[in-house]
Amino acid sequence: MIEISRVSKWYGAFQVLSDCSTQVARGDVVVVCGPSGSGKSTLIKTVNGLEPFQHGSVRVDGIEVGDPKTDLSRLRARIGMVFQNFELFPHLSVRENLTLAQVKVLGRSLDEATERGLAYLDRVGLLAHKDKFPGRLSGGQQQRVAIARALSMDPVAMLFDEPTSALDPEMIGEVLDVMVGLAQEGMTMMVVTHEMGFARKVADRIVFMDHGSIVEDSPKEAFFNAPRSERARDFLARIIH
Ligand SMILES: Nc1ncnc2c1ncn2[C@@H]1O[C@H](COP(=O)(O)OP(=O)(O)OP(=O)(O)O)[C@@H](O)[C@H]1O
Ligand SMILES: [Mg+2]
Repeated sequence: MIEISRVSKWYGAFQVLSDCSTQVARGDVVVVCGPSGSGKSTLIKTVNGLEPFQHGSVRVDGIEVGDPKTDLSRLRARIGMVFQNFELFPHLSVRENLTLAQVKVLGRSLDEATERGLAYLDRVGLLAHKDKFPGRLSGGQQQRVAIARALSMDPVAMLFDEPTSALDPEMIGEVLDVMVGLAQEGMTMMVVTHEMGFARKVADRIVFMDHGSIVEDSPKEAFFNAPRSERARDFLARIIH
């Protein structure tokens, strides 16, 4: 579903991605981890064309992201992206947040968009909050609305960039539970996170990055039981303790 091949990117003289290659098969969950500044956000954002790159190729469901002929807004409509800071529209109610892109980008009627949006809101356990504004919700609730909004677009894959790292500890679980449910239902997911409990539970593979390179790309058992590189061993030792 997602194929990243030999992607390199520079900011001026600084190389932020170095020859990165990995794939996410349909229905698989790949967790991306690594130290701060290693390029995780940059890599995941190449998948929906939010970060242009100079070398290599990224294909999603057969569509070449870097091809100037690719309609990036159509492609993005098919890839759900959930960020650290929720990114809901503060001036719109939860219901309006859920329906806006369905109507504007997918051309759905407001009735259809509302029906779908509210079905996903119910799924994340927040139907009772449909008329509130995001500022009236907790961080964990806002993040669940953001996930429901992304799902309402019928994405072929979901990208998550540290979706729980801005949350108070007691709210992390409620967001991870929603993500575990999605993974178990077969959603294709690429998830930047340091929540290794989540990774152990649902990841098929772990990608470990350092200094812009993919240092390891292993099945989770291999990664956790016998990381090949010194850098991954150090990293795991630090975050697990
Ligand atoms: N617009 C930019 N111009 C120059 N350098 C940048 C720019 N954006 C990011 N960088 C650098 O690229 C590197 C990778 O950044 P990126 O955000 O992808 O890292 P990350 O692994 O997601 O880190 P974190 O765990 O802190 O989120 C960092 O060294 C960062 O300073
Ligand atoms: Mg990041």
